[in-house]
Amino acid sequence: MATVALKDVTKVFRTGTLAVDRLNLDVNDGEFMVLLGPSGCGKSTVLRMVAGLEDPTSGAVFLNGEFANDLPPRDRSVAMVFQDFALYPHLSVGDNIAFPLRLAGLTAERRGERVADVAGALGIDDLLDRRPGRLSGGQRQRVAMGRAIVRRPELFLMDEPLSNLDTGLRAELRAEISGLTRELGVTTLYVTHDQTEALTMADRVAIMRKGILQDVGTPTQVYGRPATLYVATFLGTPRMNLLEAAVHVHLDQHVALNLGEQTLHLPWDDMRARAVGHYHGERIVVGMRAEALTPTAPNTPGPVLHGQLRHLEHHGHESLAFLDIGATAVVVDEAAVAADGGAVRQRGLRQFGRVVRRIAGRSGAVGEEQRAVASRTPVSVFPDPGRHHRRSAELAVRLAPYPAVSPGQKLAIQVRTDALHFFDEHGDRIDVGWR
Ligand SMILES: Nc1ncnc2c1ncn2[C@@H]1O[C@H](COP(=O)(O)OP(=O)(O)OP(=O)(O)O)[C@@H](O)[C@H]1O
Ligand SMILES: [Mg+2]
Repeated sequence: MATVALKDVTKVFRTGTLAVDRLNLDVNDGEFMVLLGPSGCGKSTVLRMVAGLEDPTSGAVFLNGEFANDLPPRDRSVAMVFQDFALYPHLSVGDNIAFPLRLAGLTAERRGERVADVAGALGIDDLLDRRPGRLSGGQRQRVAMGRAIVRRPELFLMDEPLSNLDTGLRAELRAEISGLTRELGVTTLYVTHDQTEALTMADRVAIMRKGILQDVGTPTQVYGRPATLYVATFLGTPRMNLLEAAVHVHLDQHVALNLGEQTLHLPWDDMRARAVGHYHGERIVVGMRAEALTPTAPNTPGPVLHGQLRHLEHHGHESLAFLDIGATAVVVDEAAVAADGGAVRQRGLRQFGRVVRRIAGRSGAVGEEQRAVASRTPVSVFPDPGRHHRRSAELAVRLAPYPAVSPGQKLAIQVRTDALHFFDEHGDRIDVGWR
């Protein structure tokens, strides 16, 4: 089977675009790795470098532990499936799937067996005589998959294979693709900008932004302990609530998180209190996902926030309430996501990276290194008070569908402090550690 290792892989196109910036990523044998990120973040470029269709500007690609930068695509035993995978319109479905086998010189009999196997696995055995023009989008994509699988590659590279399909079909094929690749035991590198695909299909997810790896881990890890503010907001619906908080330590009692008009207390016996306590007298970002917030009676003891309902959003199975709690929002936009400042190449390398950056900055490194350091210069997520308006936070809270509440009404919200997330002003997770 196959492993992939990318070591400090950088791609700068001739136009000067830095598409991939010192990427380090390992894909284990048989693993389903999803590359997730917004449009233009460099996902396809990574895939094309693994396939050998694009040369890295620097760094190394290893396939099965062997240095593969110079290996031609045909010697890589990879199969690619694209979003707009073109089938041969004049060939039947069966001949389309058999095409790579014909090129490989297999006999008609062997080809027939392999095609039947694959068509059976994909549930398209009754379509073998049809032409692609008479298939639905989902069926066409299955044929494309079939043509990729039939070669029995060691490595699948899939670039948004489902993005042209409607929602129902996507959900169905999602399950099929991940089921099939696991059954075959084929290592898979799957590109998408859809967080649902990433979280449902992946063994591990690698999240990229502007060519830089932000975080990598199992779906539970990247969702539950996002390494940066960027990852925190990219994953999860509704988006994680991000509030500005001033930190005050009351030794041996708690750490007070002053959110403006209200204060939350992180008990001293919470393991993270000390890490957060280092920011005594400073501002940090407190992240709260909707699942950490539960509507409650106004006089409930414990950590409760009070707010006024601004508006409601009905989603059928639930309604979202947006509350004004007198706190300041932290907006993660293009300018402010300083997540790059501390982007984690690999969890655990994080502190090391910081030290390297500090040393590089001090010693006045030149050329390539200096450019790279500059592009990762931390920016504060807290707006400069002279130049920006402070935006008041609207806390998103889940309610039962169509609740009997109306705008203007006061609501009390119980907060699970153990489910809070903390980030520093550069967008890096504060309570970092091995997970
Ligand atoms: N052949 C090329 N020449 C110059 N620039 C390129 C080339 N291919 C890609 N780029 C640029 O490199 C960056 C990364 O592109 P890439 O296609 O890898 O993004 P992506 O994450 O796959 O985006 P999408 O989700 O839109 O497919 C973009 O800024 C893109 O414009
Ligand atoms: Mg792409």
